[in-house]
Amino acid sequence: MDNRPVGMFDSGVGGLSVLKVFRELAPEEDVIYFADTDWFPYGPRPAAEVRKRSFAITHRLLESGAKLIVVACNTASAAAIADLREAFPVPFVGMVPGVKPAALRSRSGRVAILATEGTFDGELYSRVVEDFARGTTVSAVTGVGLAALVERGLAGTPQSGEILQRLLGPEVEAGADTVVLGCTHYHFLAGDIAARFPGVEIIDTSEAVARRAVQ
Ligand code: DGL
Repeated sequence: MDNRPVGMFDSGVGGLSVLKVFRELAPEEDVIYFADTDWFPYGPRPAAEVRKRSFAITHRLLESGAKLIVVACNTASAAAIADLREAFPVPFVGMVPGVKPAALRSRSGRVAILATEGTFDGELYSRVVEDFARGTTVSAVTGVGLAALVERGLAGTPQSGEILQRLLGPEVEAGADTVVLGCTHYHFLAGDIAARFPGVEIIDTSEAVARRAVQ
């Protein structure tokens, strides 16, 4: 076995959703988790800035001997993963908004993707919608303030419920039966979404990404 650690990063606690599954699946692996809280939030920042941080963090993780980097952040994956793969000789595993599973599972043909501004602006998002939406109506819902709420430990409070109602209520009323968590921080809001919108299917790709990293 290769004893070098796995590097993982996010702007804050969001990527812990990936880390949790990864550690369950591969408890023998050492992981260095980098939470870039000084630069939180990534979502509203220009892509160039997020790319710069992603490169700096990758350098740090490689200096610590990382054999694989998990970009446990949708915004950083959108802004930087293609360039990171070109620039560094280690494998990268990143987040991709779960448009494909959502389009396959939705019965109403309408899905809502909840993600940051940066994720929606990226080329990656347009590409997965183009490749996988297949006639499904896909609404992009920017989760303004949601990652900050999670970062402050306010998931599961009336405050998070109210914001989610405001953001997702109109989509669900319009017939969306599937909500994609397109930001790793939103994993921690899955319970609030399920409680507010019973019957709506929630797509969370953090487990699939952890499995891919183990592979
Ligand atoms: N956790 C990050 C993501 O997956 C974003 C949170 C932030 O805005 O920093 O997109």
